[in-house]
Amino acid sequence: MKLTRRTLLAASAATFALPGPLRADPAPLSAREGEATLLPEGYGATRIWGFDGTAPGPVLRFRQGDRLVRRFVNDLDQASTVHWHGLRLPNAMDGVPGVTQEPVAPGAQFDYAFDLRDAGTFWYHPHDRAWEQVGRGMAGALIVEEDTPPETDRDEILLVQDWRLYDSGAMADDFGTMHDWAHGGRIGNWLTVNGRPAGAQPAGRHDRLRLRIVNAATARVLQVARRGLDGWVIARDGQPLERPQELSDMLTIGPGSRADLLVDVTAAAGERAGLGHAERDGLSPLFLLDVADGGRTEPLGVPEPLPPNDMPALGPLDAAQQAELRMAGGAMGGLSTATLDGEERRFGELARMGKLWAFNGAVDMDERPLLRVAPGETVRVALRNDTAWPHAMHLHGHHFRRLDDTGRPGPLGDTITLAPRERAEIAFVAESPGDWLLHCHMLSHAASGMMTHIRVG
Ligand code: C2O
Ligand code: CU
Repeated sequence: MKLTRRTLLAASAATFALPGPLRADPAPLSAREGEATLLPEGYGATRIWGFDGTAPGPVLRFRQGDRLVRRFVNDLDQASTVHWHGLRLPNAMDGVPGVTQEPVAPGAQFDYAFDLRDAGTFWYHPHDRAWEQVGRGMAGALIVEEDTPPETDRDEILLVQDWRLYDSGAMADDFGTMHDWAHGGRIGNWLTVNGRPAGAQPAGRHDRLRLRIVNAATARVLQVARRGLDGWVIARDGQPLERPQELSDMLTIGPGSRADLLVDVTAAAGERAGLGHAERDGLSPLFLLDVADGGRTEPLGVPEPLPPNDMPALGPLDAAQQAELRMAGGAMGGLSTATLDGEERRFGELARMGKLWAFNGAVDMDERPLLRVAPGETVRVALRNDTAWPHAMHLHGHHFRRLDDTGRPGPLGDTITLAPRERAEIAFVAESPGDWLLHCHMLSHAASGMMTHIRVG
């Protein structure tokens, strides 16, 4: 028998019959209401729903190879679950109600336990009525540290949430309005980073920072611009890039996606540096630095790539199983009919039932798997966004590579944002058996038809 900490503890329990708990299990992770200060001083506080009553929830931090063991207790008055976004885990731990587990009823609990195979920046959020629960604040960062992290002066998580707030601080209660659902989703009017309005912190010129950006918004695509900073993207969606990629002027991070940056402060002392989300009427700040003297005398050099996670290599692409996923519907989408539970219906009728989008002509793809594949098989999916809206397609439990026009695979990712009318092809290796969702991470789109799964096994 292989000796692990667990078996050692079990053995000692049997031998010595020690009283009391042997393993200090972390306190349960709860879902409950709370109060947050999302707006600047002078405005009111906001009632949110959050993990442990906070928005975002606690940062869960581990080392690669650790085991996550966490009891989830639902203190909301509606069912919930926890989905561990971007992690490769056994299907039963994936947190999808009605697919991988029963929904966790109000007052009930569920035990999650799985090994953390990949180092990187991940996050967790509920998967039941996620369009409301995530929108009300339920999201948290899950960081799995590399054995040897890159040299930095600071390592920061920037978890971005998008809120629709009144000046009083109260959250607009208009979740589930079909107007939002038929358009780009529920876009808010206020962004927070780690649950606060962006405030400036001190930094030295030439400081090197690792910034782990998590887009936990339910619909907003982030366009990240920078000032007084220069550097590289070193990982996307938790997976290291084979070569750090120099930062361009604008970095797109769709809902659900993450980007790990290594940036050096290039602004001079007395200047302000930072990151912002670019909008039509300017930048909304995400991260601000007041640059002061001191710190390094010169910048660090070009970083080494992060050590890769142990991902399966793509098999021959011409022998791969293939499927096409055509997205249709929404406002200005020209979808006249689609099937729902196998029955052909007109768009107006579907809209009255809260269904506005279709994959391959079927709402929720009529709950059929897009593909059935065996573990280890290579799969290609051609995505076609035939709508007037962007969509952030997320695959559970796997990481895919986008194929370029010549069929060459790009970096790994678990979520890909497609602009209106955009097409993309992705390829991945099917891993653990089970049903793995493939859905839009504009969470209201997922709830109104943009949902299917891949059946592995
Ligand atoms: Cu982060 Cu199915 O989602
Ligand atoms: Cu969408």
